[in-house]
Amino acid sequence: MHAQDTTALEAGFQATVAADQRIEPRDWMPDAYRASLIRQIAQHAHSEIIGMQPEGNWILRAPSLRRKAILLAKVQDEAGHGLYLYAAAETLGVDREELTEKLIGSRQKYSSIFNYPALSFADIGVIGWLVDGAAICNQVPLCRCSYGPYARAMIRICKEESFHQRQGYELLLSMVKGTDAQRLMVQESVDRWWWPSLMMFGPPDGDSPNTLQSMEWGIKRHTNDELRQRFVDMAVPQAEVLGVTLPDPDLRWNPERGSYDYGEPDWAEFKAVLKGSGPCNSERLARRRRAHENGAWVREAAMAYAAKQAGRAGQADGTGQADRALDPANEEATV
Ligand code: 3HC
Repeated sequence: MHAQDTTALEAGFQATVAADQRIEPRDWMPDAYRASLIRQIAQHAHSEIIGMQPEGNWILRAPSLRRKAILLAKVQDEAGHGLYLYAAAETLGVDREELTEKLIGSRQKYSSIFNYPALSFADIGVIGWLVDGAAICNQVPLCRCSYGPYARAMIRICKEESFHQRQGYELLLSMVKGTDAQRLMVQESVDRWWWPSLMMFGPPDGDSPNTLQSMEWGIKRHTNDELRQRFVDMAVPQAEVLGVTLPDPDLRWNPERGSYDYGEPDWAEFKAVLKGSGPCNSERLARRRRAHENGAWVREAAMAYAAKQAGRAGQADGTGQADRALDPANEEATV
């Protein structure tokens, strides 16, 4: 392609982003924009899928049919979110299988938060309140992401995340109205999840290599620190209603800023979790690998079924073309 053509295409892309319109899969886009979207959407999809594990562990132990049904629905939603996101990534030219291989080969990340264990049933409430609450703060602006398929997937995901957050908060409201032991269980859980929830927003802005470019491209709409602050300001009054203490001695209202000041998360811990040394990193990946291996027969059966259906369709229109196209030995057909 001539340099002139690329310049015109680049100008068209920039104009679309500047006008706050959407880039669609068939539109021209810079290679780096495509790569950054694949990176972020893949990590997001992996987070949803790995995120099923800490809570999935509690489905059989939920204390009532109502709580079991809610938790089951929530974990299923997370599988659905993973699927919408892998589908959005596929519109950028990557294959879901390839992304899964990268996840289980530790070549792509997933959210740090899912490397912490869910140790008590209060954790189910606190994950809903804080983890899903943080996810909503981070993800609502992604509904306005410049890439159409990601933005549209996020609209539905955020609606469901909002249900997830509310079910967590409702569970905690019931627990704090219960016995002293239940209140203690909630406080202990908040103590463990508060700081990892703040880390979900990513490193401080000064240490975030991707934010500036992502904001220029309209992928991210706010910086990591802006969203973290928004989350703190939302969580503090909610903690007061629950009667729990957030484990941060530096947390206080700052009337000049109109926001809460808060302490510094332990960024060394964050880096260690990202490098694979969190409390559950190896367990989460091992389980995901096993699930992928156990699911091999389902994928094979689905491929065989699709090939059979396509073969029938080819025979019906008399061309047999679909049959040939699906035959991997037929190089001509795969060109
Ligand atoms: N966990 C793991 N990795 C993280 C992270 C976290 N909490 N925060 C940042 N990182 C990684 C980044 O991915 C990046 O690594 P890379 O360059 O190898 O991709 C590196 O740390 C530097 O961070 P940046 O701030 O420069 O990266 P981004 O600009 O991409 O911002 C982000 C990070 C805010 C997480 C952004 O990617 C984002 O908004 N992603 C979409 C939302 C998402 O993935 N959320 C995960 C949670 S999903 C969830 O919670 C499920 C729900 O059911 C609860």
